[in-house]
Amino acid sequence: MAHLPTLTPITSAWMHELMNAKGILNQLLEKHGSPINIHQTDAMDENYESYHRVFEEAGLKNRIFFARKANKTKAVVQKAHSLGMGIDTASYQEYSQCLEMGIPGSDLIVTAAVKNKGLIDKAVRKGSLLVLDNEDECIQVQEIAKEAGKNANIAFRVSGFTVRDSKLYSRFGFDIETLNTFVKDNFAESTRFDQLSYKGLHFHLNGYSVEERSIALSQCLALSERLSQKGFKTEFIDIGGGILMNYLKYETEWDNFSLQLRRAINNKIDPITFENQGLGLQVFGGALQGELKTYPFWNYLSKGDFLRKILAYKTSSGDTLAEQTKSLGIEVRMEPGRSMLDQVGLTAAKVAFRKKDSRGDWLVGLEMNMTQMLSGSADFMLDPFVIYQNEEGEEQSAEVYFTGAYCLERDVLLKRKIALRKLPEVGDVVIFVNTAGYMMHFFESSAHLFPLAENLIWNRSSNGGEISIAEFYAE
Ligand SMILES: Cc1ncc(COP(=O)(O)O)c(C=O)c1O
Repeated sequence: MAHLPTLTPITSAWMHELMNAKGILNQLLEKHGSPINIHQTDAMDENYESYHRVFEEAGLKNRIFFARKANKTKAVVQKAHSLGMGIDTASYQEYSQCLEMGIPGSDLIVTAAVKNKGLIDKAVRKGSLLVLDNEDECIQVQEIAKEAGKNANIAFRVSGFTVRDSKLYSRFGFDIETLNTFVKDNFAESTRFDQLSYKGLHFHLNGYSVEERSIALSQCLALSERLSQKGFKTEFIDIGGGILMNYLKYETEWDNFSLQLRRAINNKIDPITFENQGLGLQVFGGALQGELKTYPFWNYLSKGDFLRKILAYKTSSGDTLAEQTKSLGIEVRMEPGRSMLDQVGLTAAKVAFRKKDSRGDWLVGLEMNMTQMLSGSADFMLDPFVIYQNEEGEEQSAEVYFTGAYCLERDVLLKRKIALRKLPEVGDVVIFVNTAGYMMHFFESSAHLFPLAENLIWNRSSNGGEISIAEFYAE
C-alpha cells in the first residue's frame, strides 16, 4: 500500500512540553474525564502583535476586537483584553460575562446576529457599540434607548458588495446600494431614529478572499463619503474577521494530500479517507468535479500578512486603501477570532478500544465525540499525536481511523486515515493540536448526556521546572 499522506501541524514548545509529561496528562484525564481542552494563552501576544504591527507600519488609527465566539473560555477573553484589545460579542451571555469580568462597556461591541431585548438594553445602558443588521433592529434599539433615556452607539453592518461585476450575497447586513437612501430617509430627514448615534460601518465576509475584503473596504470608504455629505461622520470601518491562519508546516504535504485524494477518489490508489470521501471533490461520469471544501489549512498569507495585503490594495484613485483611509481620518477596526487563537489550545482524549471493521480497517475508538473537535469545513486536517503509555514492545506501523462516541456511523473524528508508528492501546492518549479556534467549542453538544469537555487553563510556572498539576485550573 502506498504511504498515506501526512499533514504535519505547526506546534509550539508548550504543546511538546505537555505531551512529554505523560504522567500529568494521565492525571488530568483521570481527574476531569475525557476529552479535555487545554489552553495556554502566551501565543496570543504574538497573534495580536502581527496585526498591531501592520497598523503601526501604515500609521493608521486602529482598534482590534477579539471575536470571542471562537472559544468559550474566559481566560482567552481576559488575555485579549490585557493586550489592549476590545471584545466582539455575539450573544447576551457572551456580553454579560465580559461585563462580569470587569471589562468596561466601552471596550465591548455587539455583533450578534440576533439581539434580544436584554442584550440591547444592557449594551445601550453601558454605552457599547451595537452593530445593526436591519431596520427592525433599528426600531428595537431606538425604543429601548428611548426607554433608557440614552443615545445608542451604532454602526451599520453592510453587505452586497460588487466584486468582478457580481454581487456578493450575504444574509447579513444592509445592502450597500440602499443604505445611503435608508440613512437619508430615516436619519437625515427624519427623527425616527433620533436616539441612534451613528459611528461607523462594519462588514464580515464569508470565505478568505483578500480581494473581496479590499473591495468591500473600498466601497465602504466611498459610502462613508456620501454619508458625510449628509452630515454623518464615519469614525471607523470594521472589516470583521475571517483572517487566515496557517496550521501546517509544509506546503509540499498539503499539495501531496490534494493529489493523493484525487487519485484515491478516482480509484487509482486505496482510499485515504473514510468511505473514500472526497471532502468536496467527487467523480462524476469518470471526471473529477468540485473542489476541496476544507479550511485552507496550509496557506502562505496568514494573520498580519493577510491584513497588510488588504491595506496595500490600490483603489481606482491610485492610492492604497491604507493611504485613502488615513487621509479620510477613519479608524480601521477588525475582529479576528480563530487567528487570535493560533497555538493556544489542544484537545486530549483517551483511547477506549481498537477493532477492525468489516472492510479490514483499524478503528481506534476515543472517549470523545465528533462535536468535541469539529470543523465547520469538510474536515480538520492536522495529524494528531499519540502518547503511548507503553513504549516497549515491537513497533508495528498501523493505519487507523479515529472514531467517536455518538451512535452515528459518521462519528469519525478525522475523515483522513492516519498512519501511526504503532497501533495505540486502550488508555493511550491522542492529542489534537491547535483546536482552540472553533474546533473544540463551536459545535459541541451533549447527546447521550455526555458532559461537555472540561476546559483547563495552563498557567505555566515561571520557574520553568517540572510541570505540576496545580498549574492547571478548570474554568
Ligand atoms: C461578525 C463576525 N466578526 C468576526 C468573526 C470572527 O471570524 P474569524 O474567527 O474567522 O476571524 C465572525 C465569525 O463568524 C463574525 O461573524
